[in-house]
Amino acid sequence: MMQRVKRVGGEDTALLEQITQLESLCIPNPWSYEMFELEASRRGGVVLAAVDENDIVSGFLTAQQILDTADINNVAVHPDCRRQGIGSLLLQEFLSQLQDAEQIFLEVRASNAPAIGLYEKHGFCRIGIRKGYYTNPAEDAVIMQYGGTTC
Ligand SMILES: CC(C)(COP(=O)(O)OP(=O)(O)OC[C@H]1O[C@@H](n2cnc3c(N)ncnc32)[C@H](O)[C@@H]1OP(=O)(O)O)[C@@H](O)C(=O)NCCC(=O)NCCS
Repeated sequence: MMQRVKRVGGEDTALLEQITQLESLCIPNPWSYEMFELEASRRGGVVLAAVDENDIVSGFLTAQQILDTADINNVAVHPDCRRQGIGSLLLQEFLSQLQDAEQIFLEVRASNAPAIGLYEKHGFCRIGIRKGYYTNPAEDAVIMQYGGTTC
């Protein structure tokens, strides 16, 4: 089905509910509805949803932008919809909104090959390791960067 990316606001309750459900399906320490609502409402917060023509959410991206730096918190795609370019669509949409001076940072579990592959495909590079950053289960984080002078 055709997918497009929507910017989600704090008032988009139906989209935020689907995003909350999708996140609990995809990762071990999921955000609550209220956390997504806050991120979608506050200045600098970004929530993007990949939706079909019936507004069914197949994936989302959350980030925060402060001055010339953005941090991607999470990108997730429904398990039934992976490897169809939806993660790429979300990331490209986010990258297309960046100004020249901006750089993006993110942390990802060291064992998360699909996510690291997605970020590397779109020009992110590994700049370091944060030892023991994650719990449940305990794991190091790979720090990745897009833009700026390091990559
Ligand atoms: C990571 C994730 C968002 C990728 O979404 P997706 O829609 O399947 O990604 P795409 O189809 O756009 O794939 C883009 C690229 O990512 C990489 N990739 C995606 N899935 C992969 C996998 N299972 N193994 C290796 N590389 C993979 C590939 O480089 C791929 O390009 P290709 O298809 O040309 O080979 C998805 O696997 C997911 O939701 N994972 C669980 C949540 C998560 O871990 N999020 C990251 C937290 S930081």
